Amino acid sequence: MDFFEVIKKRRSVRKFTKTKVPESIMRKCLNASLLAANSSNLQPWEFYWIRKPIKKGKIVEACFHQNAAKTAQEIVVAVSRIDTWKRNRDLIIEDYKKSNKLIPLVKKYYNQIIPFAYYHDRFGVLGLIKRIIFVFINIVGYFKPIIRGPIYKYQLFEAVSKTTALACQNFMMALVAEGFDSCPMEGFDEKRVKKILNLNWQSHVVMIFGVGQAKKNGVYGDRFRIDNKLVIKEV
Ligand SMILES: Cc1cc2nc3c(=O)[nH]c(=O)nc-3n(C[C@H](O)[C@H](O)[C@H](O)COP(=O)(O)O)c2cc1C
Repeated sequence: MDFFEVIKKRRSVRKFTKTKVPESIMRKCLNASLLAANSSNLQPWEFYWIRKPIKKGKIVEACFHQNAAKTAQEIVVAVSRIDTWKRNRDLIIEDYKKSNKLIPLVKKYYNQIIPFAYYHDRFGVLGLIKRIIFVFINIVGYFKPIIRGPIYKYQLFEAVSKTTALACQNFMMALVAEGFDSCPMEGFDEKRVKKILNLNWQSHVVMIFGVGQAKKNGVYGDRFRIDNKLVIKEV
């Protein structure tokens, strides 16, 4: 299917047929998610493919029994994390070393700048300390462009969730390319979902996907987008 056809064909599906999604397709689409662009290549995402019926039932309940969850053949929970950076950073450095490409600039980036951005504590004390440091950094900012964050924990969550959302888009597109559909959901009780998946405070549930094949009446209405002149600005 032509790439732009895939974009046009993707719709949020709220009612799915009983057609099963082959495991191989689920795996192919999940793997495609992981090829998304991501900040510093730190890949701060996790995708939980809910296989156990008991867990699936609990997730559907946490999604308030929405049709998109209730009728889905498969459910996938996309999670962003601020605590996997160290493991992933070490793996990245190892990979650089293998290809003899670990230049000092890369080393400094992953060993100094990334830890400074990613170290956070539960209660935000480190965020406040960083804020004070950034007061001084901001003075330099009067004279030249500088990095201005992330400072607070919530800004880091924003960064990892932004990246995870890109992987989510890959997932939905890949499903369409394989003849299947999905519905992204943020209508869920995050606290409950995190409990079901045993997730800690350093994780955030970005989206939950219902996956399957669209029923005839599975898409609610024609697609509506506001006039592109309102949002595409040529400046
Ligand atoms: C982050 C996000 C959260 C969403 N949450 C829900 C949801 O909880 N329930 C639902 O039925 N649709 C949900 N949607 C689907 C949107 O309503 C849908 O994408 C939008 O209306 C545009 O329609 P389209 O996807 O068919 O182009 C969500 C979409 C996104 C991107």
